[in-house]
Amino acid sequence: MARLEAVCDLELNEQGAMPHDALVAAVAGKHALVSMVTDTVDAAVIEAGADLRVIANAAVGYNNIDVAAAQARGIVVTNTPDVLTDATADFTWGLILGITRRLGEGERLVRSGNWTGWAFDQLLGSSLPGKQLGVIGWGRIGHAVAARAAAFGMSVAHTSRSNAPGSMPLDRLLSTSDIVTLHVPLTGETRHLIDQPALARMKRTAYLINTSRGPVVDEKALAWALRSRLLAGAALDVYEREPAIELELLTLDNVLLAPHLGSATTETRTAMADLAVRNVLAVLAGEPPLTPVP
Ligand code: DGY
Repeated sequence: MARLEAVCDLELNEQGAMPHDALVAAVAGKHALVSMVTDTVDAAVIEAGADLRVIANAAVGYNNIDVAAAQARGIVVTNTPDVLTDATADFTWGLILGITRRLGEGERLVRSGNWTGWAFDQLLGSSLPGKQLGVIGWGRIGHAVAARAAAFGMSVAHTSRSNAPGSMPLDRLLSTSDIVTLHVPLTGETRHLIDQPALARMKRTAYLINTSRGPVVDEKALAWALRSRLLAGAALDVYEREPAIELELLTLDNVLLAPHLGSATTETRTAMADLAVRNVLAVLAGEPPLTPVP
């Protein structure tokens, strides 16, 4: 903020997600907007921001921004790739280990005061060595998650939109993987990519992990699949209508729920903020942005 203040008048929203009408009002007369994933920067915001030159999203995902509307008005849109790849990949593995080793259930048992002590067959989980990790979305984060699989003795299959060499067809990946992890951006094509038929294709012993965007998974269908034990479990960091969560998921033991923490380390969030600021300063100085979205 100090670096922005050195060159700009800064208006700061410290209230968390900004109501849409407040954002429309606030953006008038501004040259730059630093937005969060919780800010819906749609055509109305962009129209109100007639003086905007740059929208710097402090996130790698930018489905919260109407990029076409911004670009049609000559506004540069930037995001924060690379700097959050490792934090998000590490967190994905945290979820994989957490759900397969039943950490959430174990913690709830301890906190309930009902734990009666060690038992040979208590809360038995599922081992990873020799199993297949299915990575859906073969971008930076998908690659980084896959790179960590060898440490857990897992083989990797992946599928990508471009069907690049080595890519496995989605149906086959779903039916053969023991862990399916999602790393696609949210687009018209990926909304509800994991729907009822996709979930039905998965092994009954498999787990679904989502650290991408909530609407990639049909949450109602997931609750149905988990309740029916069509898959062993799921671990979610993102939800269809954050912060609301499909209520049935809260009642199920075979799902681990995190509050959108994928990139949430002090180091990573600092790097994301730094990159967003550098993008703003570059555009305002008439230089090319560091990380424009295509
Ligand atoms: C992102 O970067 O897209 C995350 O979801 C927010 O940190």
